[in-house]
Amino acid sequence: MKDKIERAYRRVGRLASMYDGMMLNSSWLGRLAMKYFWQLTDEKYEAFINQAFAGVPDDFSGRLLEIPVGTGVLSLPIFERLKAERIVCADFSTEMLEAARANAAGVSNVEFMQCDVGSLPFDDGSFDHVLSINGFHAFPDKEAAYEETRRVLCEGGTFSGCMYVKGLNGRTDFFVEQFCERHGFFTPPYETLTTLAERLKSMYSAVEIDHVEAFAGFVCRK
Ligand SMILES: C[S@@+](CC[C@H](N)C(=O)[O-])C[C@H]1O[C@@H](n2cnc3c(N)ncnc32)[C@H](O)[C@@H]1O
Repeated sequence: MKDKIERAYRRVGRLASMYDGMMLNSSWLGRLAMKYFWQLTDEKYEAFINQAFAGVPDDFSGRLLEIPVGTGVLSLPIFERLKAERIVCADFSTEMLEAARANAAGVSNVEFMQCDVGSLPFDDGSFDHVLSINGFHAFPDKEAAYEETRRVLCEGGTFSGCMYVKGLNGRTDFFVEQFCERHGFFTPPYETLTTLAERLKSMYSAVEIDHVEAFAGFVCRK
């Protein structure tokens, strides 16, 4: 399973400009994919981005872990503006990290690290914020990922981000199953909005959860 995911993101890392065009909703093909498969029209795309970063305040000044950073195309421009004590951008794909390093030209306040979300190389409570954008639908061992992201968060810290959830949009569910899953970009089982809310409420003291089409956004306080 892990090998399949690694191979999939090796390819994405090597085609990073195409991936970035979709994530930024900027290329012709990317906008088509956003609209057709993810059902994110331009307006909904804006809402999706706002939802993904809703938990990160503009004046954040603490220690932040982003996992997975991917190519960093969405998060690096935001991190660049933060006066944070420490920002660690982690991912387990060497190729995605290479693309992120290239996208980080001029961004001096971030560190990159290769690691597995299921076994994070940090002490308990090392971060004030853990950000996970579009990661949990890809991670192979989701239980370990939930445990580890919570473990490295300090008491009172924030876990936020977004992920694909099943059952909200039939066309997206079909595309995920027939394309993303087959090629190793996504790994089942997926949360539904209800199971995600239940899980996060069982792990965190305060949970806000919403969705834009098939993407659930969450902000949780430990
Ligand atoms: C869909 S991309 C999301 C990247 C980025 N956050 C974004 O929204 O563009 C999923 C990422 O998860 C990473 N990934 C998959 N399994 C992982 C694991 N076990 N540990 C860390 N990263 C992992 C992949 O390498 C890939 O970069």
